Amino acid sequence: MKRIALLGATGSIGRQALQVIDAQPELELVAAASGSQPIEGLAPLTQTGGDLVALLERSQPDVVLNAVVGFAGLPATLWALDRGVTLALANKESLVAAGELALRAHARGGGFLIPVDSEHSAAFQCLEGRAPETVESLVLTASGGPFRGRTRDELEDVTPEHALAHPTWNMGPKITVDSATLANKGLELIEAHFLFGLDYDNIEVVVHPTSVVHALVRLRDGAALAHLGYPDMRIPISFALTYPERAATAIPSLDLSGGLTLEFHAPDLETFPLLALAREAGERGGTYPCAYNAANEVAVAAFLDRRLPFLGIAEVVAETLAAVDGAEAGDLDELVAADAEARAIAQQELAAA
Ligand SMILES: NC(=O)c1ccc[n+]([C@@H]2O[C@H](COP(=O)([O-])OP(=O)(O)OC[C@H]3O[C@@H](n4cnc5c(N)ncnc54)[C@H](OP(=O)(O)O)[C@@H]3O)[C@@H](O)[C@H]2O)c1
Repeated sequence: MKRIALLGATGSIGRQALQVIDAQPELELVAAASGSQPIEGLAPLTQTGGDLVALLERSQPDVVLNAVVGFAGLPATLWALDRGVTLALANKESLVAAGELALRAHARGGGFLIPVDSEHSAAFQCLEGRAPETVESLVLTASGGPFRGRTRDELEDVTPEHALAHPTWNMGPKITVDSATLANKGLELIEAHFLFGLDYDNIEVVVHPTSVVHALVRLRDGAALAHLGYPDMRIPISFALTYPERAATAIPSLDLSGGLTLEFHAPDLETFPLLALAREAGERGGTYPCAYNAANEVAVAAFLDRRLPFLGIAEVVAETLAAVDGAEAGDLDELVAADAEARAIAQQELAAA
C-alpha cells in the first residue's frame, strides 16, 4: 500500500486524483487538504487552509501529491523533497519559484520527484534511463490556448470568460488563464530546466493544437522520441502515484483507426510575450523566475477580477521583472522576501495600469 497525502483535493487535479486513488487498490488516501472548501470525511486526516506542513508531519505519507495552485504550495514541496518522500508535483509554481533551493532539498532527501504536468511526465518517460550526453534537446508542446492565431488587436477586449474556454484541457482558472497567455508554457519551460537539468537553449516550445503529443526528446543520432495520448490528466497522475510500477488504468489508448493528423507550429512570441519573458527570466537565473511567477499570480488574479485587461498581464510581469534585483536566494526566508517584493511591485504596476 502507498499512503497518499493529497494537497489541493478540491481542484481540477485533486478531483481527478481522487478518481485515480479510488480505482487503485494499492493507493490509500491518508490525508487531504483544501484552501477554503470544506472536505471533512474525505480522508482520515483533513485540513482546510492552515499549515500544509503540519498536516504532512501528522500523516507521514509515502507520497505527497502537491496539487495546490500557486506559491502557496512551496512549503509542501520543500518538505517532501527534504525528507526523501516521493513528490508527485502538479504545483509547478513551487519548482519555478524555488528552483535551486528545491534541487538542493531534493539532493539532500534523495527521494523521487515525479512531475504530474502532462508535458513533464511525458518528457520524464522519454528521458528515463537515457545517458545525458545522448540527449540533444527537449520539445514541449503547447495547445496555444483559446486565442491561438489571434493578433494583439484582437486580444484587447477579451474577458475572463473568453480566456477560461480552453480548447483541449479542463483545468482550474489560474492555469487556464496561463494557457491563454502562454505563461503556462513559460512556467513549464523553467520547470523543465530544473527537473531535467537542461540548458534553456536545449528546450524548445512548439504549438500543437490537439494536445496529443505531450513532449518529444531529440537524441544525438537524429531520432526523436515522442509521448502520445489523449489529453487526460488521470494518466500522468496515475503514473506519478504508482511510479515505478505504472499501474493499469481504464483510460483508453489512442484510437488510430480514424486517422490522426499531427500539426505543429512555432509559437507567436510577439502576441504572447509571457513565453519569451519566462525564457529570459530563466536564463537570468537568481530569483528572476520567482519574480516572474509572483507577478504573474498577481496579474492573473487581477484579470480574473476584471481589474486588468488581458494584455496587461504581460505588461505587469515585464515591468516587475525590470524592477526587481533578481539576486539569488540563499535560503527560504530570502526566497519568500523576493516573492513578496515582486508581488508588491506588481501591485504598484496594477495601480498604475
Ligand atoms: N488542472 C490541470 O489540468 C493541471 C495540469 C497541469 C498542472 N496543473 C497544476 O496543478 C496545480 C493545481 O491546478 P488545478 O487546475 O487543479 O487548480 P484548481 O482547480 O484551481 O485547484 C487548486 C486547489 O488548490 C487548493 N488551494 C489553494 N490555495 C491553497 C492553500 N493555501 N492551501 C491548501 N490548498 C490550497 C484549492 O482549494 P479550494 O478549492 O478550497 O480553494 C484547490 O483544491 C497548479 O499548479 C497547476 O498549474 C494543473
